[in-house]
Amino acid sequence: MATRRILVTGGAGYIGSHTVRLLLERGYDVAVVDNLSRGYRHNVPAGLLYAMDVADTGVLTELMRQLQTEAVVHFAGFIAVGESMVEPARYFTNNVSGSLSLLAAMQDADVKHIVFSSTAAVYGNPHAVPILETFPIQPVNPYGESKVMVETMLGWFDRIHHLTSVCLRYFNASGGAPDGALGEEHAPETHLIPLILRAVLTGKPVTVFGDDYATPDGTCIRDYIHVEDLAEAHILALEYLLAGGASDQFNVGTGFGHSVMEVIRAVEEVAGQKVPYTMGTRRAGDPASLVAGSDKLRAKLGWQPRSSELKTIVQHAWDFARKHA
Ligand SMILES: NC(=O)c1ccc[n+]([C@@H]2O[C@H](COP(=O)([O-])OP(=O)(O)OC[C@H]3O[C@@H](n4cnc5c(N)ncnc54)[C@H](O)[C@@H]3O)[C@@H](O)[C@H]2O)c1
Repeated sequence: MATRRILVTGGAGYIGSHTVRLLLERGYDVAVVDNLSRGYRHNVPAGLLYAMDVADTGVLTELMRQLQTEAVVHFAGFIAVGESMVEPARYFTNNVSGSLSLLAAMQDADVKHIVFSSTAAVYGNPHAVPILETFPIQPVNPYGESKVMVETMLGWFDRIHHLTSVCLRYFNASGGAPDGALGEEHAPETHLIPLILRAVLTGKPVTVFGDDYATPDGTCIRDYIHVEDLAEAHILALEYLLAGGASDQFNVGTGFGHSVMEVIRAVEEVAGQKVPYTMGTRRAGDPASLVAGSDKLRAKLGWQPRSSELKTIVQHAWDFARKHA
């Protein structure tokens, strides 16, 4: 099979870097576009990085033409819900305008397929779990809204320009590469597992936001998906589109939820140390439980999570955190 040429935006970030690694392992020819605003040069293998902003439509078009890009995997964007509630304009500019610029460049360069990083945040506060793709789309913050807007644009680009897309709505990406070379290092960090690990490594307590939810131990339940299982979903989505598959949306999660206290206990087991934590009050807008219904992804793309046992996730995250502390 001829090498397929894939452009990965945001490939210097957490999920993007794991996906780039897997694409290379699978024999794809990869180029990374990342402005390094939140990602790291060291996450990208030498020679693959184009340090630029997706907003630069002209340069992006020229690049895709030169590279004869066949498909795009689009991770680039800002990801912090809380920040989006303080600075919504940043989120609409970067996530929506940035994606529109990319779509315009794809159109100009005649690139017809895109896998897009969407999010469980498009569902807002769901009326039930597990959450199915057919549930109402009703985001409760600008971050989630920015992803809905891109999903909507993708629908129109398909109808009008026949540009096909898969929107992957991730639940909680977590873990790292088993060899400890890649892992989660957001700045600022807002995700639970790295924050708990940081508490273990620094001795400074992590805050648990609320223990009075209607869950078995009172703390919030989330669906943790190993970043390597997430990367695999991108490869499957890409292959599906390259084989002529129609545009679609899929949840990416395991279908199992873990409470904050369960995660803390898993960290204590893996690290062999107590996690220092303080019990805080609820954070506005945190649903009690977010768990993915992922039957569609399993049935239609043949996806199967392999590394998403909580203990494996925590072990890989711990290996990375210790190495990079
Ligand atoms: N981490 C999660 O749990 C999670 C959950 C749901 C969805 N997502 C989505 O997945 C994608 C990747 O998330 P991540 O956790 O790897 O985040 P990340 O911050 O580690 O990676 C995002 C990358 O995009 C780059 N970037 C941002 N704006 C850019 C721009 N305008 N031009 C070029 N590069 C730009 C950043 O420098 C960074 O390297 C995001 O779109 C995010 O919304 C993440």
